[in-house]
Amino acid sequence: MNYAPVCLLAVALSFPLLATGADLDALIEECDSCHGPQGASSDSDVPIIGGQSSSYIATSLAYYQEWGRPCIKSAYRHGDTSKPVTTMCKICADMSFDEMEALGDYYASQKYVAAKQDFNQAQAEKGALLHEKLCFSCHPKGGTIAERGPILAGQWAGYLKTAVGQALSGEHLVPPLMEKQFADLGIEDIDALANYYASQQ
Ligand code: HEC
Ligand code: HEC
Repeated sequence: MNYAPVCLLAVALSFPLLATGADLDALIEECDSCHGPQGASSDSDVPIIGGQSSSYIATSLAYYQEWGRPCIKSAYRHGDTSKPVTTMCKICADMSFDEMEALGDYYASQKYVAAKQDFNQAQAEKGALLHEKLCFSCHPKGGTIAERGPILAGQWAGYLKTAVGQALSGEHLVPPLMEKQFADLGIEDIDALANYYASQQ
């Protein structure tokens, strides 16, 4: 399968139902039970989603629905943590386009809270150089702003290593130009990039 931006219009036409306020509140509560209040995650394997762009969040959810990326099992972190483990793919399986878009709008309107985490200074410096060479065009200003790609600065290192690793192995389809930049990256480079983003608090 080739990378192709999911056609949200086609998805929209097949899901004409509008998300009601109550449905949306229940969905947000579900998301926050792993991603943290207003999407400000406190777990290294769970990405911060508050403050990311609406289109990035909606598109990511559509990819999980289309199984365009791996479905990693995850436990609940807040609220009722006795609920059985689940995956982003299951969570998105029956979601309508309107719900994806409404969730995108909601999280985009929240504050991006950079993670407080440890990092290695030497690795971070190496990662900064790699970022300027390979990543800045779509993740500008040190990855601090959401533009073509999501904010990376301050994102959790554990999640970043998994996501970039999946892109490298081809398990998770990413934009062809981003894939091209990954071509010569090794494990040490991923580690350096993750330390660089982690260092931006
Ligand atoms: C049971 C825990 C759990 C719940 C509930 C959950 N997530 Fe996630 N989410 C994760 C984990 C863990 C990851 C990172 C690993 C992965 O890709 O599955 C993730 C990844 C994501 C990403 C992907 C970022 C990227 O790499 O592109 C987005 C966006 C996201 N979640 C949004 C949501 C939204 C919106 C909801 C509510 C509808 C939600 N999540 C509910 C655990 C959860
Ligand atoms: C040609 C533009 C482009 C370049 C260059 C680029 N990215 Fe991205 N990146 C994107 C877009 C667009 C997304 C979100 C859409 C997607 O994942 O399909 C993204 C998403 C991501 C994500 C979130 C996980 C995900 O797949 O959604 C990570 C992590 C990431 N990029 C890291 C990097 C790193 C590290 C580099 C440099 C080695 C880089 N990117 C270079 C465009 C780019």
